[in-house]
Amino acid sequence: MSEKILVIGANGQIGTELVTALRGIHGAENVIASDINSPTYAIRNNGPFEFANVLDKDNLHHLFDKHRPTQVYLLAAMLSAVGEQKPKMAWDLNMTGLLHVLDFAVEFKTAKVFWPSSIAVFGPHSPQYDTPQYCVMDPNTVYGFSKLAGERWCEYYFTKYGVDVRSIRYPGLIGWKANPGGGTTDYAVHIFHEALKHGKYQSFLSANTALPMMYMEDAIRATITLMDAPAEQISIRSSYNLGGISFTPTQLADEIKKHLPDFEISYADADPRQAIADSWPKSIDDSQAQQDWGWKLEYDLPRMTQDMLQNLKELV
Ligand code: SER
Repeated sequence: MSEKILVIGANGQIGTELVTALRGIHGAENVIASDINSPTYAIRNNGPFEFANVLDKDNLHHLFDKHRPTQVYLLAAMLSAVGEQKPKMAWDLNMTGLLHVLDFAVEFKTAKVFWPSSIAVFGPHSPQYDTPQYCVMDPNTVYGFSKLAGERWCEYYFTKYGVDVRSIRYPGLIGWKANPGGGTTDYAVHIFHEALKHGKYQSFLSANTALPMMYMEDAIRATITLMDAPAEQISIRSSYNLGGISFTPTQLADEIKKHLPDFEISYADADPRQAIADSWPKSIDDSQAQQDWGWKLEYDLPRMTQDMLQNLKELV
């Protein structure tokens, strides 16, 4: 049976790359990109696009009814830093949007749903190094506890209603095709743009703030591998830990300097995102993803840095 895939939030950092990858696999006409904002040139010009606001239940219902998707990827969300400025709106968007999609997945018997979670589900009392799949979780950002609550809803809809929902706790994501939208890990993308444009960058996180990160190539491959895995291999219906690469702003800057020797990094004195970063893990244990669906990281820090610079060079 051919798939009919609906990607909600297609203009964002993950969506931009995921739509392209899915269209390559399933055929452009079978992957409907949707977003609250006008589509990017690439998305509009190589396949179908629909406007969608996840908070508009009737509109979303209409999209499910019209396209009868076999797979839905719900990527529309408000990230950690922006979420702290608009806490109620972040909660509403992140929660209500998910519940609408889960309800319609039940109503329209959608075969599979993907929903992204995050390392933000962990908090100050979670183990900071090699954070395990199961441990104390006391997230203190609205984004973090909306993701944690969302994970519980996903597992609940799987158990109660049989929705085949799959999820990954993404680390900070780094890619050259699209910019991140208001997260705490965004520095690791901005630094590449500024290094190429101006030869210097002021990091809003302090020099030794280690965070788990992942190159977008790996993140997209992980997402598609998880979605393609036989259902019986998926032992976790909340969300899978995914480790990626852990590094600090200094380590990333040193790696960039290997390619751009004159690059200079400086550090901001005080930024509200520092407290968010300090509450998150420094590294993640993803052995369950390795065991269940054969997850294996391909891009380490040197390879990711080289690929980012090479591709961005053409664009900036
Ligand atoms: N990258 C996200 C953020 O910084 C975490 O999932 O908000």
